[in-house]
Amino acid sequence: MIRSALMNVMTAAALKAGRGLKRDFGEVENLQVSVKGPGDFVSAADKRAEQTLFEELSRARPGYGFLMEEGGAVEGSDKSHTWHIDPLDGTSNFLHGIPIFAISLALEREGRLVAGLVYNPASDDVFIAEKGQGAYHNNRRMRVSARKTLAESMVACGIPPLGRSGDHERFKIELAAAMAKVGNIRRLGAAALDLALVASGRCDGYWERGIKAWDIAAGVVLVRESGGFVTDLDGGADMLAKGAICAGNEAIHRQLLEVMRKA
Ligand code: IPD
Ligand code: CA
Repeated sequence: MIRSALMNVMTAAALKAGRGLKRDFGEVENLQVSVKGPGDFVSAADKRAEQTLFEELSRARPGYGFLMEEGGAVEGSDKSHTWHIDPLDGTSNFLHGIPIFAISLALEREGRLVAGLVYNPASDDVFIAEKGQGAYHNNRRMRVSARKTLAESMVACGIPPLGRSGDHERFKIELAAAMAKVGNIRRLGAAALDLALVASGRCDGYWERGIKAWDIAAGVVLVRESGGFVTDLDGGADMLAKGAICAGNEAIHRQLLEVMRKA
């Protein structure tokens, strides 16, 4: 188990924000049937969770900067540390009462991702990792899967929504290429959890384009510390800047990258 002061701070902040999300998720179910629907309520829940994370982390680590889905960039006096925060990854799932969503929290130090936490309050699954200290799922060491071929693999992906119709054609080409090789493909709707699933060996690989740094920063640390590989879709290390990602165990990452390159 990782017992560092840093991980204690991250876990305490995420569990606190998660308590609010859990409560709000219960409410969403009631709002599904109302005329107005749960839309505004969910965006308020999202902002409340982010505020809790911001306050807790600012108190515990004064001066660190923030990159947050809702609040954007907040520069800190300590230029060497930045938190990457998605307070509610899987917003559409949350909105529809589907319990696949998570808080995603990562710390970047001197330009390197050094710690990541992904927490699904609906299932109480906590995934943590710290650089050089391994990765854990609910206190148990995580390892990526050992599957060697795409044909026997479960691979997660992200589908660009209607609002990003400009990305549809490329995705359809990539999906067709993947479908010709991969045993099973999933679209779960929360990038942070897609990466946590790869890290814990449940999924063997994952790819997505048009993704933001706060969606994947924590998951990148989880996968690496579980012995997996994560790159952008050109095989480089610019996932956060390019918003394109490919992850998996060594064999599946290599093969999936190849499929995407040829697509
Ligand atoms: C989204 C989810 C989804 C991914 C999208 C993200 P949000 O984040 O991670 O799985 O496909 O690209 O924007 O909007 O639910 O926080
Ligand atoms: Ca997100």
